Amino acid sequence: MKVAKTIDDIRRLVADARVGGAGLVGLVPTMGALHEGHFSLIDAAAGECDFVVVSIFVNPTQFAPNEDYRSYPRPVKNDLSGCESHGVGAVFAPSAGEMYPDGFAAAVSVSGLTETMEGNCRLGHFGGVCTVVAKLFNIVGPDVAYFGAKDYQQAAVIRKMVADLDMPLRIAVCPTVREADGLAMSSRNAYLDDDERTQSPVLYESLQLAERLIREGERNAASVIESVRSLLADNAPLGKADYVAIVDPDNLAAVEEIKGDVVVALAVKFPSARLIDNMRVDVPKANR
Ligand code: PAJ
Repeated sequence: MKVAKTIDDIRRLVADARVGGAGLVGLVPTMGALHEGHFSLIDAAAGECDFVVVSIFVNPTQFAPNEDYRSYPRPVKNDLSGCESHGVGAVFAPSAGEMYPDGFAAAVSVSGLTETMEGNCRLGHFGGVCTVVAKLFNIVGPDVAYFGAKDYQQAAVIRKMVADLDMPLRIAVCPTVREADGLAMSSRNAYLDDDERTQSPVLYESLQLAERLIREGERNAASVIESVRSLLADNAPLGKADYVAIVDPDNLAAVEEIKGDVVVALAVKFPSARLIDNMRVDVPKANR
């Protein structure tokens, strides 16, 4: 496994791999502090592609000034050995200066999809995500890029960017990997103290509650949201719900009457970490 810190170096490594016969190049963009969620994307890439690139870059432009850019975990050695053992061909780990040299002035934005949920709570976040992901696509030139359903809105925004800007690659979205108690794996889970960690599985429990209510025939989104909010308030008193939303899986518009498949998404702010999770709930045609 090779590690590239510059754009020139990673381009050379990918070009060499292609000359060496790699037909499909896969990219897994990450901010590091790799866990089983990331490794599931890497394994999916390794299963489908001839050469896998993992980017590790804590992207400053997607953090608001009050967020955790500085304290975001950066366990570089562990990350590299994890990549090595999962069959990664090359890691791209640039500095902020390499990605955003003085005078950098471009931006990629996607409207509409970015204006709810995470985009509404974290102003400017998706502009930073789209810009860095577009750069990574241009730098690496992958055939397939892998994203996690854990960040449902992010995957939807990236798909839209790729479609609208005719970027020549496929976006693969892989299922959310969870701890045994249901908590979705996240680099930020490490911030939680013991009490917060004990309460944190309520995010998944409340998604399961929403799923059950919908499956049992509840069609009023506001009433499902109300039940979720009260479970969160009862079982996670240390947390504060930023939003609980029931949205159309494609355009992310809020759904009032549940007539088809929906995504239930939520964000809960604990004192030490803000957690997000979501679940797609399919409503069989016969039950609509
Ligand atoms: P990061 O939070 O490191 O996540 C990298 C990828 O791993 C994302 O596609 C995310 O959805 C996926 N992922 C995280 N936790 C997961 C889990 N429990 N199960 C499955 N997949 C999971 O998302 C980012 O970084 C950044 O915004 C990035 C796209 C790299 C741009 O900077």
